[in-house]
Amino acid sequence: MPASQPSNMDTLIPAPVFASPAPAEDFAVTAATAVHAVDAAAPVAEHLAELLRAGTGHPVRVLPGPAPDGAIALVLDVAAVPHPEGYRLRVTRRSVTLTAATPAGLFAGVQTLRQLLPAQAGAGWVVAGGEVHDQPRFAHRGAMLDVSRHFSTVAEVKRFIDQIARYKLNVLHLHLTDDQSWRIEIRSWPRLATYGGSTQVGGGPGGYYTQQEYRDLVAYAASRHVTVIPEIDVPGHTNAALASYPELNADGVAPPLFTARGNATGFSSLATDKEITYRFVDDVLREVAALTPGEYLHLGTDETHATPEEGRLAFIDRVLPMAARLGKSVIGWHEILRSPGLPVSTVPQYWGRESSDPLMAAAVARGNRVLLSPAHKVYLDMKYDLSTPIGYTWAGCIDVADIYDWDPAPTWTACPSRPCWASRVHCGRRRSRRTSTSSTWRSPGSRPSPR
Ligand code: ACM
Repeated sequence: MPASQPSNMDTLIPAPVFASPAPAEDFAVTAATAVHAVDAAAPVAEHLAELLRAGTGHPVRVLPGPAPDGAIALVLDVAAVPHPEGYRLRVTRRSVTLTAATPAGLFAGVQTLRQLLPAQAGAGWVVAGGEVHDQPRFAHRGAMLDVSRHFSTVAEVKRFIDQIARYKLNVLHLHLTDDQSWRIEIRSWPRLATYGGSTQVGGGPGGYYTQQEYRDLVAYAASRHVTVIPEIDVPGHTNAALASYPELNADGVAPPLFTARGNATGFSSLATDKEITYRFVDDVLREVAALTPGEYLHLGTDETHATPEEGRLAFIDRVLPMAARLGKSVIGWHEILRSPGLPVSTVPQYWGRESSDPLMAAAVARGNRVLLSPAHKVYLDMKYDLSTPIGYTWAGCIDVADIYDWDPAPTWTACPSRPCWASRVHCGRRRSRRTSTSSTWRSPGSRPSPR
């Protein structure tokens, strides 16, 4: 695009519910432009002003009170925009008005506004004129980052949060533990992080987040309207914990740290018949829950090939109530559905490759919310095609169009007569270097949009 051209409203990502370009109504951001907002809208206005200052070099100020001509107004108005994450954006030559019911809706509108600016100033900083109305189709729109196989610093995770927020994702699923490492400080079991977190795939130095650093990440994400869901993967995918504490092993012997790539999975298990295992899980969940303002803890539960089935069932029976006592609901990879009688609050996350799954369908029929992250659609570490130099092919080749065009709803809304939730997850943690996911669940009555 020539530098002087504004972005095209027709190429917004994700596609909004409604966009009506009006090229004669482009709005110029100048040295005189200010953002007007009051009360709860003010932090979002400050965020927008900061972005505009950094991008344009203009001293964009945040001011209270009604916006005069030439200004950008951020307005909270529940009556005008009923959806809590929806917004309306009107760009004319004289002003920009962004209206939403909540700060989260305003924040989403700010991300759209950014895409309406040109990538470079050229003839000026011009916001494309017209009108955009939008609201998300799914309540949960997530991305997963595997910091266990390869460590990401706090600064890198913050950058990732910024990137997902630009595309209106609102959940960061952090895969904190696996065979290769344990990345979160647990004060009652300190060697998990100091020893279990001391390496990574390929044998690099690894690292871990102190509880203070983790709190900082959670707060940073919240400032971008992103909720962090921590994943502590148990009872399998636990070599790093088993290496750190011999007593968690069935034979009482700690294995060495494991630094091979993630395609050797399913070989480790906590000793599900030892009481100390349950003290361990209880301690870990208590400390992680205390760092987690969100509703969910993700407990993994996938690929338990090294756990006897009886032990796996007993384990799930004992750990789910631990989370409930801490006031948290549990997400598990879809293998968790092999346990009968799960509470309706348990959320299975589907990572399989089938177009339907009887256990998932039954869960939806019972009223469980579900997350969808089918590997052959949204695992981002798959090659685009066979000529792609890096990436895996075990779930197929997935190019950008495959991911972007994937619609989770037809698969999963067909099954139940009850309200149904669907989820979209871009995930690749299993065999990946660093991977990501995005996911959603759909609220009853929410209406489909092109997103
Ligand atoms: C997974 O990729 N094992 C969830």
